[in-house]
Amino acid sequence: MSKEKIILGFETSCDETAVSLTIGNKVLVNLISSQVELHKEFGGVVPEVASRAHIEKIRNLLHECLIQGNVQQEEIDIIAATDGPGLAGSLIVGYNFAKSFAWSLNKPFYPIDHMVGHLVAPTLAYEELKPPFLSLLVSGGHTQIVLVEEWGKYNLFGQTVDDAAGEAFDKLSRYCGFGFPGGPAIQKLSRKGNPDAIALPRPNIKSSNDFSFSGLKTAAVYFLQEIGTGTRNISKEDFAASYQEAIVDTLISNFSKVLKETGAKTISGGGGVIANTRLREKMEALADKNEVQCYLPSISLSTDNAAMICAAANKDLISIDKSRDIRLSSIIK
Ligand code: KG4
Ligand code: ZN
Repeated sequence: MSKEKIILGFETSCDETAVSLTIGNKVLVNLISSQVELHKEFGGVVPEVASRAHIEKIRNLLHECLIQGNVQQEEIDIIAATDGPGLAGSLIVGYNFAKSFAWSLNKPFYPIDHMVGHLVAPTLAYEELKPPFLSLLVSGGHTQIVLVEEWGKYNLFGQTVDDAAGEAFDKLSRYCGFGFPGGPAIQKLSRKGNPDAIALPRPNIKSSNDFSFSGLKTAAVYFLQEIGTGTRNISKEDFAASYQEAIVDTLISNFSKVLKETGAKTISGGGGVIANTRLREKMEALADKNEVQCYLPSISLSTDNAAMICAAANKDLISIDKSRDIRLSSIIK
């Protein structure tokens, strides 16, 4: 049996500086330095602030990661980092830091696609998750239904034509002053709210499995403007719960259509929005109803982290053709 590889991973595509060590499928250390407090006052991620914060944090996080993992630099087999998609200024910091570190140690460097990282994240807890499976990838920038035919071979069955699911949470939360990031803020309010309090649309693009969330956001804003004129009244908890329900229903409706179309026997998910409790309940219920297996990443491996980057590297899912040094054309961009 070949020795399990020790992988050091870096993830800096947005506003989390993350460094992780894995051995084989096991997570040794998973460090995440969140920048939420820095961006809170702006109600969204400020790219320049994000890249500067990555520069300040990354060196100490690496140091801490090696100490906590009790791993010597020489013992590392592979160094991996996210190479996209994400904020250019943020990506550059982690990517160049990791590549230089690999070069200085004479270790192989693996560039990894962020969405492929989200796709493989559940395998860190469930080694038995293997293709073919159908995955719902939902983050701040992406909403995709992907059939993983084999590792590295992806078939895209649906995606958003405008805002991503996470963006729909974030933008409305910002508009309403519910907090940043929007997904967790809306989920928190929803716990005490009635999801059926108001009838918001479940946007559906006819004859396709694509999503459109900008219309839902506009409908919610119009509803609030109506309230502003005093014609109706609703608590923010009920409003948040109804909005969350509309997003979750829309995601599940298209995902369930594709599940039937493909006849997949296993479903999975990834990205920050998959941390949403209501969405997780409905994914599990869908799996039960269709008698398929469901593998979701833990909450901490749903949002951005570097362990998922290690997991993709462990499966050799690099995003660049090393011989030609070009980005591989992949559906998951
Ligand atoms: O994957 P991620 O951490 O970063 C990106 O790749 O974008 O996803 C971040 C997104 C944000 O839009 C955030 O509001 C959303 O995931 N999110 C949630 C929850 N936790 C994070 N959305 C709904 N419910 C949550 N519990
Ligand atoms: Zn992400």
